[in-house]
Amino acid sequence: MKLNEITKKVYSQFNHHRPLSEFQQRDIRHMKRTAAISLDLAYEMKELDISYDSELTEEYIKKLQLAASHHDYMKMIWPDVMRDKKKDVLSGFHKNIIKSHPICSGENLRNDLKINYPELSMYFDKEVYSIILHHHEHHNGSGYPDKLSEDEIPLGARILHVADAYDAMRSKRLYRRKENQRMEHERAVAIIKEKKGIEFHPAVVDAFMNVPFNRQLDNLYDHLIILKEQKTSNI
Ligand SMILES: [Fe+2]
Ligand SMILES: [Fe+2]
Repeated sequence: MKLNEITKKVYSQFNHHRPLSEFQQRDIRHMKRTAAISLDLAYEMKELDISYDSELTEEYIKKLQLAASHHDYMKMIWPDVMRDKKKDVLSGFHKNIIKSHPICSGENLRNDLKINYPELSMYFDKEVYSIILHHHEHHNGSGYPDKLSEDEIPLGARILHVADAYDAMRSKRLYRRKENQRMEHERAVAIIKEKKGIEFHPAVVDAFMNVPFNRQLDNLYDHLIILKEQKTSNI
């Protein structure tokens, strides 16, 4: 089954009774872009260092894409009050929900599939879950949920973390409205570079800096800004 078909089925659970909200549509678009960026990063890492060939097999890269396409699954049911606010103005309760989202995303996805789409369960194996579970771990061990560091973090999660951070920085956030609405590509790249070896795995950052997608990506986000507010059901 193709990734697109799996993703469509998984997210169709959320619009059985009502159309997807703008927030939910945005979440899905974020996950899809993150999956596309993760794919480019994985291939670039192989290009830069052939020792990654044995880990980044075609099969593993497919799992990475699947995990990336569902990494924030739990956010689909977050209350609106938690959206687009800076973390420091949220209550402790809501902060805990944020901190637990990698675990909850994996667990809820697993349970929902078991109940609603058992035929899809086979695609979401242990490796897919571990990428989802660890996508907020930091290279220096300061991330969550398990404070893993360096190569303890599954390779897919190390890649996904950089792709996720880039997309989050480039995406529109309401609290950035006073500024430029979206962060410029160059600024996002500079932040990723600054955090190389601290938050982000050095080899993934090297791949990120090298990937020819840099310019294309920037155009992609410019394009998205035009499309973003169109109420589209075909996300
Ligand atoms: Fe996340
Ligand atoms: Fe994310």
